[in-house]
Amino acid sequence: MSEEVRVLLSEEEVKIRIEEIGAQISKDYEGKTVHLICILKGGVFFMCDLAKTVSVPVSFDFMSVSSYGNGTDSSGIVKIVKDLDDSIEGKEVLIVEDIIDTGRTLNYLIGILEKRNPKSIRLCTLLDKPERRVVDVKVDYIGFSVPDKFVVGYGLDYEQKYRNLSYIGVVEKI
Ligand code: XMP
Ligand code: MG
Repeated sequence: MSEEVRVLLSEEEVKIRIEEIGAQISKDYEGKTVHLICILKGGVFFMCDLAKTVSVPVSFDFMSVSSYGNGTDSSGIVKIVKDLDDSIEGKEVLIVEDIIDTGRTLNYLIGILEKRNPKSIRLCTLLDKPERRVVDVKVDYIGFSVPDKFVVGYGLDYEQKYRNLSYIGVVEKI
């Protein structure tokens, strides 16, 4: 069986929505420096493009976690594969994630980061799959809500493929 990727959100739609979120963040963090924490690898294009649309001072750091024990369902047990380089104490932290699915990963991660005493902690995700939510997480900025389909592109992968697509698509087996 081969695969095909059907466009769900075009490059232009993604770009416009990111500019809107960037404008909102600039307003909400006026007079402050926002410390973006990119969750690797999926959040990388989103964070880079988002950071360029934000008009307040920005610093950033990267974290890599693995939550999937097997298959495509997250276990809730999150392993920190790469921790942050810098302390977040006293910082206005904004986590930048590619997609929130069950919510388990972010719920666990926020718990860990809160213990490090940031001044504030908020969450920004490009994509949200509300139908799949198991754990309640407060999401402050959402790019798009998507249906319960496996999505790829713009940082998101299927078996490490398709991250470099400039749009968001759905993998279809043909
Ligand atoms: P949970 O379920 O803990 O998981 O909210 C969030 C993480 O699961 C991955 N994920 C996906 N990755 N296409 C992907 O490429 C998808 O449709 C998808 N759904 C969940 C993703 O790594 C996210 O950080
Ligand atoms: Mg991810």
